[in-house]
Amino acid sequence: DKGTYEYYMLKEIDEQPVAIRRMLDKYFGDTGEILIGDQILNDIKAADRIYIVAAGTSYHSGLIGARIFESWSGIPTEVHVSSEFAYEQPLLSENPFFIFLSQSGETADSREVLQNVNRAGFKSLTMTNVEKSTLWREATYALPLMAGPEIAVASTKAYIAQVTLQAILAYALSDRIDLDLEQELSKIAVDIQAIVDDKAVFEKVANELLVPAHSAFYIGRGADADVSLEAALKLKEISYVQAEGFPAGELKHGTLALIEDGTPVIALLTQPKTAGLVRGNIAETQARGANAYTITTKALAEPGDTGYVLPDVDPLLAPLLSVVPTQLLAYYTSLGRGLDVDHPRNLAKSVTVQ
Ligand code: F6R
Repeated sequence: DKGTYEYYMLKEIDEQPVAIRRMLDKYFGDTGEILIGDQILNDIKAADRIYIVAAGTSYHSGLIGARIFESWSGIPTEVHVSSEFAYEQPLLSENPFFIFLSQSGETADSREVLQNVNRAGFKSLTMTNVEKSTLWREATYALPLMAGPEIAVASTKAYIAQVTLQAILAYALSDRIDLDLEQELSKIAVDIQAIVDDKAVFEKVANELLVPAHSAFYIGRGADADVSLEAALKLKEISYVQAEGFPAGELKHGTLALIEDGTPVIALLTQPKTAGLVRGNIAETQARGANAYTITTKALAEPGDTGYVLPDVDPLLAPLLSVVPTQLLAYYTSLGRGLDVDHPRNLAKSVTVQ
């Protein structure tokens, strides 16, 4: 039920703080212990490499997850697009563990990979929003995302839930990180609430910057490069503005040729390590006429920025915040162009063909 909302997508964006809180209730015990079965943890700890397999937005959440798994648990982690992995399987490590990310649990390409994994006798875990779905049933283990039904074709709260659950799992696999994840995630839920309460800001930016645009760029480095892919996918799928997400440093190796007077370039700037370099890349686009907008954190903001300032957050978890403005920008661009936000042309919610 959409209630007072015109479209499910905005309702689902607004539900993201609740989705995180539901996950905290489910996966953290009274004394802060993590409630994920020992068997799952032991099987993953015994692996020499994690392979995350997914499609679309779920693939993009896997890119973030891989950074967190490597950084917190120290287990090498690769992320693959399921439609590629199914037919061009890379050389596997000796003792792999597979994680399938899927909102619907029905994506045919991911299922194809899981069937190969099962035939080879490897262990797997599905993280999905739909309990008892195909990927849920066919994997060795399954953990629910509990984001509640996602109706809009454009996935939003499932991405947030997938990043959150991967972080919780990575945290459970590590015994040496100096972070209170439960507290950090509670704060992130509050921070997301503040971002979604700023809807009017993004409606204005979408109308001025993106509604009239032919094309747009999202740029960033590290986790911001991953979020730029998701931001661009969201924008193109519901607003039909041709959008590219790009590692900021790669721009000058070709794509910079596409920047013209007024081209929107939205820079994600949440990673302290590379912020200075991204600043340089923004300047390169501005020198070619780009209309630059930054989505940055308080610590990295500079006077004179045209953009939105997020609260400070652990850099690995920054995608949980930075993706939200990009969801809202996509939503309001679609709305401003008079499109059916929930039902973009040519797309289905669940992709059950290979
Ligand atoms: C984009 C989107 C798709 C899905 C993809 C995978 O907004 O919704 O890219 O993420 O089709 O679907 P699931 O997660 O159901 O496997």
